[in-house]
Amino acid sequence: MGVEIKVEGLTKRFGSQVIWNDVSLTLPAGEISVMLGPSGTGKSVFLKTLVGLLKPDAGSIMIEGRDLTRLREHDLYEIRKLFGVLFQDGALFGSMNLYDNVAFPLREHTRKSESEVRTIVMEKMDLVGLTGAESKLPGEISGGMRKRAGLARALVLDPEILLIDEPDSGLDPVRTSYINQLFIDLNAQIDATFLIVTHDINSTRTVPDNIGLLYHKHLAMFGPREMLLSSEEPVVRQFLNAQTIGPIGMSEEKDADELAAEARSGQELPPLPPIPLQLGTSDGAPRRGERPAGQWCRDNGITPPPGSFHSHNAGVPGVRHTEPTAPTEPAPTEPAPTEPAPTEPAPTAEAVRSS
Ligand SMILES: Nc1ncnc2c1ncn2[C@@H]1O[C@H](COP(=O)(O)OP(=O)(O)O)[C@@H](O)[C@H]1O
Ligand SMILES: [Mg+2]
Repeated sequence: MGVEIKVEGLTKRFGSQVIWNDVSLTLPAGEISVMLGPSGTGKSVFLKTLVGLLKPDAGSIMIEGRDLTRLREHDLYEIRKLFGVLFQDGALFGSMNLYDNVAFPLREHTRKSESEVRTIVMEKMDLVGLTGAESKLPGEISGGMRKRAGLARALVLDPEILLIDEPDSGLDPVRTSYINQLFIDLNAQIDATFLIVTHDINSTRTVPDNIGLLYHKHLAMFGPREMLLSSEEPVVRQFLNAQTIGPIGMSEEKDADELAAEARSGQELPPLPPIPLQLGTSDGAPRRGERPAGQWCRDNGITPPPGSFHSHNAGVPGVRHTEPTAPTEPAPTEPAPTEPAPTEPAPTAEAVRSS
């Protein structure tokens, strides 16, 4: 399960507007990758291009030996069945209850009987912690529940590739932690290839196996989590540490004057914060993409910032980082180990209503 996607030289324009140019990366099979980038850099366009909803102007997208950009409509329709997509807005049908929303792709794309549909829908609702909420309308539930319902719908055709656009936008930090844990557990369970677009630096630092950054019409960097979190490259460093000092300005790039003023004023980047431990599955089950903490750094002769791999703290400004004695001290933002995670025992109706 889970297939590799190899993107090479991908370019997308709308008219004369170049969105991104010459993007090359490989999403390793079964691993979780995160794509970052300032608003408007074409992250959503990238997801839509991967799934074949938008045609690139150049480049290739290889999946199972076939170039998705060159497929005819019929073959594209077939290969799309490998994908589950959670769009930015959740895109649920407002007049349908959650059950019918989640059942929709099965009724549309398969010839399954209603009793088979029911088994699958209930299984996926359970997977995302929505058991008991089947008859709710999208308008009656919280943003977090709508995202999870969208996720359940993206899962019903058992995708090999899951594309998820800003699952945490509009969610509070606790719900964001729950959905991050859900992604890790889900990835271990279904072993699909995940690509998550997010703005959340804390999620980016702790969840994925790989990180990419789209900036200024190109892919600034893509690679293992530890590679980007230890990178001194100015754009990567600024973005992953949420800093104002660096080449990224309030609106797109800083101009030469701004950068010169910054240099004159002697402003310097603070040292790189510690690299946090990666979030594990809630039951300790291994994931395919998981690597021992610090392995990438060791393999590449990189000395990680002091204090790395001691906690799940992101180490970004505003997050307290204390040096723990045990290497696996739980971070304060995470649910305590005894609390039920959304994928574990089905939440009570009360818990479902309030999340
Ligand atoms: N269908 C479209 N036609 C023309 N321009 C588009 C279309 N979709 C997106 N764009 C433009 O592409 C750019 C990137 O958009 P988007 O991928 O939504 O950014 P992000 O998701 O990174 O915030 C924006 O300037 C947007 O206006
Ligand atoms: Mg977007």
